[in-house]
Amino acid sequence: MDKKFKRTLITTALPYANGAVHIGHLAGVYVPADIYARYLRSRGEDVVMIGGSDEHGVPITIKAKAEGVTPQDVVDRYHKIIKDSFEELGISFDIYSRTTSDIHSATASEFFRRLYDKGEFVEKTSMQLYDEKAGQFLADRYVTGECPHCHNERAYGDQCEACGTSLNATDLINPKSAITGNTPVLRETRHWYLPLDKWEPALRKWILDGHKEWKTNVYGQCKSWLDLGLQPRAVSRDLDWGVPVPVEGAEGKVLYVWFDAPIGYISNTKELLPDSWERYWKDPESRIINFIGKDNIVFHCIVFPSMLMAYGDGYQLPDNVPANEFLNLEGDKISTSRNWAVWLHEYLRDFEGKQDVLRYVLTAAAPETKDNDFTWRDFQARNNNELVAVLGNFVNRAVVLTHKYFGGKVPAAGELLDIDKEALAELSTIKRSLEDALDTFHFREALKEAMNIARLGNRYLQETEPWKVAKTDMDRVATILNTAMQLTANIAIAMEPFMPFSAAKLRKMLNAGDLAWSDLGGGSIIAAGTELSQPELLFEKIEDEAIQAQIDRLARIKEENKVKSFKAAPQAEDVDFDTFMKADLRVGTVLECRKVPKADKLLQFLIDDGLEKRTIVSGIAKYYAPEDLVGKQVCFIANLPPRKLKGIVSQGMILSAENADGSLVVIGPSAPVAPGAQVR
Ligand code: 2FM
Ligand code: ZN
Repeated sequence: MDKKFKRTLITTALPYANGAVHIGHLAGVYVPADIYARYLRSRGEDVVMIGGSDEHGVPITIKAKAEGVTPQDVVDRYHKIIKDSFEELGISFDIYSRTTSDIHSATASEFFRRLYDKGEFVEKTSMQLYDEKAGQFLADRYVTGECPHCHNERAYGDQCEACGTSLNATDLINPKSAITGNTPVLRETRHWYLPLDKWEPALRKWILDGHKEWKTNVYGQCKSWLDLGLQPRAVSRDLDWGVPVPVEGAEGKVLYVWFDAPIGYISNTKELLPDSWERYWKDPESRIINFIGKDNIVFHCIVFPSMLMAYGDGYQLPDNVPANEFLNLEGDKISTSRNWAVWLHEYLRDFEGKQDVLRYVLTAAAPETKDNDFTWRDFQARNNNELVAVLGNFVNRAVVLTHKYFGGKVPAAGELLDIDKEALAELSTIKRSLEDALDTFHFREALKEAMNIARLGNRYLQETEPWKVAKTDMDRVATILNTAMQLTANIAIAMEPFMPFSAAKLRKMLNAGDLAWSDLGGGSIIAAGTELSQPELLFEKIEDEAIQAQIDRLARIKEENKVKSFKAAPQAEDVDFDTFMKADLRVGTVLECRKVPKADKLLQFLIDDGLEKRTIVSGIAKYYAPEDLVGKQVCFIANLPPRKLKGIVSQGMILSAENADGSLVVIGPSAPVAPGAQVR
């Protein structure tokens, strides 16, 4: 760490308490922040890591309304789930608090009031949509209507997802309230705005000139915001859930959630350190690091810093904002509302005791420079091929061999040969690269370096073959196993920030006393004569069944979402009864079914229709394996004129229902009927 700093305040984005925490949050924010905090602590640095739940904002009120409970009920429920699951994963917060605490309301309120008194806000009235039936103003995203650009009828008040244009709710044609379905009316309302434009020159200087070392994704996003030019931003809302605006005549108005949430970092520090919190925020020898996801960059690099500059009083701006990109799940964007996620509390239930496996995989696959994908197969492979086969295997061999040949006592080394010296020398190279990577927030790279000690260890045992040497030269075996135990003790230090549970287990096995970060790289950090405990496996293989269960769960969710997202087509024009009756709909039994060569969509059926065997070609090959349909009964139209498809004459059409995604499901009777039965 940069020597000009005496202490570090690590903040982690406050997750909204309207859902649980998922792997995207973890990979983007909490696992890297925790690695960094543990690293600094093990170096003996003065470091504080804070977190908490973000408990205000419109989505929480909507969820409460939908469930018929209060917003407080919603946040109480999720705050507990989030807090408990973080703890179980070993995210080592010094405090995990919440924005509905008294200390937070008081802090946020005072912050607003000071800016108000200093004349840092501009007050503006504007016309906003109001739902008379619900008795409330509507946040942009709770208004739907027709997009003025592309005329998509299902645009949201903040954005049209069809053409991508960002909108204001008042731009929509024929707006409707998402709460009641009512047509909202325009009403005048008054709000406070923070003139970000005033702070633009200072922000440019601070970021664009002063922080060229920031990650390119962060620096780039800041630059494009600044180049576009900043506008005043409203910091209050018409809502009955949040910190009340502490100004006379502001009844029914609260602080905008993005105004109060970052102040939560200050209130949490105060709550943790009532007497010394200011040191972490105002002393130029302290530095603040904000761990966030990429969707939070503008708030942490533009809005909150402007708030802090407006407040003055010695508040410092963050020294770095190592924001990550997004983690996808099995190729699709993670989504709380579509339940497309691996939820931490469910993972901890399904994979009991495997906290470190998740921490490892999320670090190894972290979306540090671009979006990345989490798949269950990759999770399994990394566990089995890396944690078990590389790390667990080396540590186990070193400990088991020491038990076998020296009764579990670390033997004294004799004269070191070149191969021993080289192995030990490589430790200092690894240490340097590991620290470089950690200091610059490259945690994937850092993890690879830590794992390199185990790779080195496996190679060393492979080359020195102590089990063979044991037949002739036990002195040499002692030297080899002493060296192997030095590597093992180094692993215990290096893996702690990443996999604290396994590191603790390993330390217990080694009985090596206090190993500090400063011991890392050392070739004699575990003393000869140290008595090892019985070997325990650090990691175990994850079998296919456990992985398949997760893949099946996701497949079920995909199916559910298809049904949920389905919008029925408008009803077709009327058809007179006699015309309808002309269609001869029947049930037939599938006798044979096969793929049509050179046509990836088509299946060729041979159907028993009660009278004869008929051939029908149907475009459902993408959705069925032919053998699965043999013996099934299907509905078909019998009296269509024959049609040639890929050279095959099709005598009719099999009926299918179409899902939202265009996939097809064949229609058949709900109980067996005689082939040829007519459908009426
Ligand atoms: O994006 C989010 O999940 C926000 N709740 C993050 C807030 S971070 C901080 F400012 F509190
Ligand atoms: Zn549009």
